[in-house]
Amino acid sequence: MRIVLMGPPGAGKGTQARRLAESTGMKHLSTGDMLRSEVTTGSELGLLAKGFMDKGDLVPDSTIIAMIQGQLANPAGVLLDGFPRTVIQAESLDESLEVAGLPIDKIVHMSVDTEELVRRLSSRAVCKSCQTPYNLVSDAPSIEGVCDKCGSDVIVRDDDKPEAVMNRMKVYEELTAPVLNYYKTRADVIEIIATGTPDSVFEELTQAIETGN
Ligand code: AP5
Repeated sequence: MRIVLMGPPGAGKGTQARRLAESTGMKHLSTGDMLRSEVTTGSELGLLAKGFMDKGDLVPDSTIIAMIQGQLANPAGVLLDGFPRTVIQAESLDESLEVAGLPIDKIVHMSVDTEELVRRLSSRAVCKSCQTPYNLVSDAPSIEGVCDKCGSDVIVRDDDKPEAVMNRMKVYEELTAPVLNYYKTRADVIEIIATGTPDSVFEELTQAIETGN
């Protein structure tokens, strides 16, 4: 199965994709996590990506498409989080899946009001290694600055600073919201209001994926 999770920055795509991957065994493919790993290791791709990411701009389509190619045919199924993010990426995904004979099974749009998104991002921290997200107000790591899951450092992302967050919201509206319209002309998009607790959103999400509405 291939599921695309869409939604603005802070909608909870990563949080829910991790839970879904744990409960279903599907492979969680997060282009944001992949890029942050490249930044951490200081690779050529990481150095290129960091300049775009820190400002909240998108990394060029060709770089992202090359990075994700080859990972889509995982036999366990894939949960796409943060990809596709432009219509060009969506068209490329369609082409790759068509060649492999693998359709997208579900497209889920998680919506949250802007005020709540800003609240979440301004109090978010993530594990530098396994990328587990925390909320420093309501869901902080048990030991300050240390990941509960893997023991690595928990840090604040450079793109969670207010200026970058504002730009990410703008970029989402300009470049990623059109991807939803692209999909709506081809398939049913499952709409989830993702403002409840992570548990209640997960319940709604799994039910919607099972029943298709
Ligand atoms: P990426 O990492 O994909 O960032 P994003 O889409 O902006 O998404 P976030 O990770 O900020 O939010 P999320 O929806 O996953 O929410 P989360 O679960 O973390 O991309 C980062 C950058 O990489 C981009 O700006 C771009 O530069 C580049 N990039 C990535 N993909 C690209 C692509 N395809 N093309 C080009 N460039 C690309 O939750 C957020 C917070 O809220 C956490 O603290 C969490 O604990 C909390 N939370 C989650 N759910 C709830 C809830 N229900 N209630 C309360 N709090 C909650």
